[in-house]
Amino acid sequence: MSSERKSHWEKIYHGKATNEMSWYQPKPITSIRIIEDLKVAKSARIIDVGGGDSLLVDHLLDLGYTNITVLDISEKAIQSAKNRLGTRANNVHWIEADVASFTPHHQYDFWHDRAAFHFLIDIEEIDFYVSTVSSAISVGGFLVIGTFSLGGPKKCSGLEIQQYSSQSMFEVFKSNFDRITCTTVEHITPVGSTQEFVFCSFQRNDLA
Ligand SMILES: C[S@@+](CC[C@H](N)C(=O)[O-])C[C@H]1O[C@@H](n2cnc3c(N)ncnc32)[C@H](O)[C@@H]1O
Repeated sequence: MSSERKSHWEKIYHGKATNEMSWYQPKPITSIRIIEDLKVAKSARIIDVGGGDSLLVDHLLDLGYTNITVLDISEKAIQSAKNRLGTRANNVHWIEADVASFTPHHQYDFWHDRAAFHFLIDIEEIDFYVSTVSSAISVGGFLVIGTFSLGGPKKCSGLEIQQYSSQSMFEVFKSNFDRITCTTVEHITPVGSTQEFVFCSFQRNDLA
């Protein structure tokens, strides 16, 4: 794990409430809509990568999902989510790891990443991520990635990010994934500014 990257995120989360973060969403509507549209089984092995203290896990538990993992580089973010969930946190698997060096121990049926993948700007780390999802997602399983779009910000939390269009995101994942759909959405931050995201969903093919 890159210690510089980890300490950056621990600082970002230090002393801040969940709803003060620019990426905060009381209900991650786009992600939930995609999960419903894809008819993801309630028993599906789901991972939210860079989930941080996102409320997606709360909503997934409410919807009856039974096998949820949240991975984040920040211990503070994970602790904040656990504190919010109380005893319900015991029904979730928590992984503190840098996705840029993470080796999953088993496969997932649904991999979700909102605003974590776009922090990987080094080609080797992007390749590592692609190789990880290609082996970690079961054949027929889904990959959903949300990043800042070409019309979105160029930085987040003081870090450079890689913007994507639906086409450029497809180019990254196309060797092992079929594109299902892409959508551009505007996120309104807690201070009222707008950030444009592109969300794409893919299905793992069996061509590997
Ligand atoms: C912009 S926030 C988005 C949080 C959450 N996905 C959401 O939509 O509310 C980015 C999150 O990714 C985490 N993160 C950033 N780089 C990471 C990495 N290389 N590995 C794992 N987590 C990472 C951060 O700690 C933070 O929680």
